[in-house]
Amino acid sequence: MNKRESSNLPQHIAIIMDGNGRWARKHAIGRIRGHRKGAQAVRVTVRACREIGIKYLTLYAFSMENWNRPGEEVKGLMSLLEEYLDKEIDKLHKQGIKLTTIGELDLLETRVKDKIRRAKELTKSNTKMTLNIALSYGGRDEIIHAVKNIIQDSKVKKIDINKETFRRYLYTNNMPDPDLLIRTGGEYRISNFLLWQIAYSELYFTKVLWPDFTKEQLLKAIASYQRRERRFGMTGEQIKNNKRIFK
Ligand code: FPP
Repeated sequence: MNKRESSNLPQHIAIIMDGNGRWARKHAIGRIRGHRKGAQAVRVTVRACREIGIKYLTLYAFSMENWNRPGEEVKGLMSLLEEYLDKEIDKLHKQGIKLTTIGELDLLETRVKDKIRRAKELTKSNTKMTLNIALSYGGRDEIIHAVKNIIQDSKVKKIDINKETFRRYLYTNNMPDPDLLIRTGGEYRISNFLLWQIAYSELYFTKVLWPDFTKEQLLKAIASYQRRERRFGMTGEQIKNNKRIFK
């Protein structure tokens, strides 16, 4: 990346990694092998984001709705996640990457939960980049979870509830909203991902199937983001005259 390209980088990129199943069909192999190739694309993307200087990367690895997939596929995805943690966590740590998750982790098996807990503990002080994995995650579930926690919190008065207080009860309370949301696989939908947080995200859709996603594809998405004018509901004139952009 030259100097111009490395300015105005998205601070937070979120990705809906879609298309593993179609990639598997295209190559006449089983779905799990498609997901395995998808896990390889995760490695490539994490490394690329770290190199480029992206501060937060959120990956939609397993949605709340994915629990309804055939048992074998759920098992396969969980094994791939375990394998990823086993093989990658030391490398992530060496690169200064902090691992976090969002979602209903209670639904996962104890062994997977323990691995995640250990990975988080090991990397908790890292500051170069946050790799945030959405696991057993649903945007609507997250909002309901936040509402329940607000109601339970006796310190919060109704009059004090606003967008800022509300966001503190979301799973993503310690990170900025995504600047750029990428979806691979050619579908144009959000699939219950980060519903609150993407209010002003720039959306980028590509037909590329997730296992074929490369650093070049990522740079293309970032370049598209950099060409856009983010207005946050203001006019183009206001943006030019007033560089103050709210988060
Ligand atoms: C969507 O493709 C993808 C998923 C449901 C799982 C994503 C998981 C990985 C990329 C691998 C494991 C993750 C980590 C973090 C190691 P799909 O199966 O819906 O594809 P299709 O729409 O073509 O059928």
